[in-house]
Amino acid sequence: MCGIIGYNGKENAIPIVIDGLKNLEYRGYDSSGIAYFHNDKIKIIKEKGRISELEKILDDDKSTLCIGHTRWATHGKPSRVNSHPHASGEITIVHNGIIENYASLKEDLISKGYKFLSETDTEVAAAMIDYLYKEEKNKLKVLEKLEDVLRGSYALLILFRDDKDTIYALRKGSPLIVAKSKTGNLVASDIPAILDYTKDYYLLDEGEIAIIGKKDIKFYREEKEIKKELLTFKFDIGSAKKEGYKHFMLKEIYEQPKVIKNYLEHYLNNMDLIPDLSLYEKIHIVACGSAYHAGLIGNYLFSEYGDIEASCFVASEYRYKKNFINDKTLVILISQSGETADTIASLRLAKESGAKTLGIVNVVGSTIARESDEVIYINAGCEIAVATTKAYTLQVLTLSLCAYKLGLIKGKIDKQLEKELKVSYKNLPKEIEEILKLDYKKYATKIAKSKNVFFIGRLLDYYICEEGSLKLKEISYIHSETYPAGELKHGTISLIEKNTPVIAVITDKKIAEKTISNIKETRARGAYTLVLKQKDIEISHDIYDDVIEIEELSDLVSSILTIVPLQMLAYYVADSLGYDIDKPRNLAKSVTVE
Ligand code: AGP
Repeated sequence: MCGIIGYNGKENAIPIVIDGLKNLEYRGYDSSGIAYFHNDKIKIIKEKGRISELEKILDDDKSTLCIGHTRWATHGKPSRVNSHPHASGEITIVHNGIIENYASLKEDLISKGYKFLSETDTEVAAAMIDYLYKEEKNKLKVLEKLEDVLRGSYALLILFRDDKDTIYALRKGSPLIVAKSKTGNLVASDIPAILDYTKDYYLLDEGEIAIIGKKDIKFYREEKEIKKELLTFKFDIGSAKKEGYKHFMLKEIYEQPKVIKNYLEHYLNNMDLIPDLSLYEKIHIVACGSAYHAGLIGNYLFSEYGDIEASCFVASEYRYKKNFINDKTLVILISQSGETADTIASLRLAKESGAKTLGIVNVVGSTIARESDEVIYINAGCEIAVATTKAYTLQVLTLSLCAYKLGLIKGKIDKQLEKELKVSYKNLPKEIEEILKLDYKKYATKIAKSKNVFFIGRLLDYYICEEGSLKLKEISYIHSETYPAGELKHGTISLIEKNTPVIAVITDKKIAEKTISNIKETRARGAYTLVLKQKDIEISHDIYDDVIEIEELSDLVSSILTIVPLQMLAYYVADSLGYDIDKPRNLAKSVTVE
């Protein structure tokens, strides 16, 4: 949440930082701001709203050192005064994360004579650094001390008024990368901010400090200089650009056949990269949002194909409950960003309890990737749209491969089935391409008129509905609910009125009849029914208003195909309503607060 970037070098830093902020805008977009040295003073320009609003008030100034921030509000509403950077005395900072003890620090600082303009925790951090600097005078010592003073998570870029040639950076619980370009040095919260300039970067670890000069970058831990490994970002720079698509979300939906094909070529041919889950007595899958929905599918597949006790949990609940885990438990943490605060906390809890941990992660080198005992990278490339699509399908595919390997080891998948499954995996990218060719706009316009939408399905289809419903809600702002198809009549069916859309998913032949009965129940009460089903499942014309058909594939793979029409539907509903699809209101891509 929130994006930060700094540049220090030979070029004019202001346009570099503004471009970097635009590439980071998906992380937060309530307000933005920059700070730079101008005539030996620090000048701050900030504004509420998108970065385009900030651009309108920029001067023609030039500066070779600048830091910037795009905000997702936590403390205080989006406003110019609450925007970053924040300054206090000698200090100007931008900040990602939350300072949990800011209220008591603020009281203390007020008693020492500090005054505050904003409601933010960040301004308190700036004042605290200023106070410590006035006491201590040694910059490195002050920054080292912060770990004891500030509780919570933070990535900070700091400017000292008496040092116009340096950016100071440190992190605790929020990611930061530092990079060298041909003309200078960069520091940012996320890779897309630097990709126009370089693919090589250093990953700042917990508790480390970077001192970023115009030429040199120095890293410190516990006041000692350390050497760090230079890493290279392996994906296409193009993957962080829109490439002609109206929105990143649409581009990322269309990328799915390609990333899935590449993924399968890589992992199906190297199944030793997929961990052996038969070594454990039980499996816990822990994640948030869409990653949790992917986990629900994995959970089902593990039980079906692996005969193993598996459960799936929302991370923000898991971390606060008794989980009865030990060294025979595998805890799987699923996260696109690898930086989701509650998922990280669950990972740490699992490790403390002696469980083994497996991260299923997209962002290379992220906290979950680094702290898990084992990691499977889903290799989705940059996912920019806040609403996840390709990362979600690759998460499901990863869990599917884990279940597949488990089934082979446990003898639940025989030679014949293995052959059939391989065909299903192989056909998946092609089938997604086919399903993408359908016209979704005609259904979208019907749904866009509604205030409430219901999604129903059973088992795998229900889990898919959860994800389809989330996609619709987050980008179209239409209220939708998901129910196991059999559950609707236990209360919620009272909400069905004439033309209420009910989107029903049927891909499981064994239970299709039951879901069909539930669809009839809603239709009898006037619902508009849109049925998404596998081609080979017969349904009579009188149960649906519209139908979308997908190819028959094994249940190890089918969910990955089934979600695509629901992604497209959500996209076109939101597009027909004219919303800012890549940056839905109130959301941010990576949820680094609890
Ligand atoms: C889904 O479209 C959302 N962006 C959100 O639910 C997301 O999946 C969740 O916040 C988890 O993020 P992560 O995968 O980065 O941990």
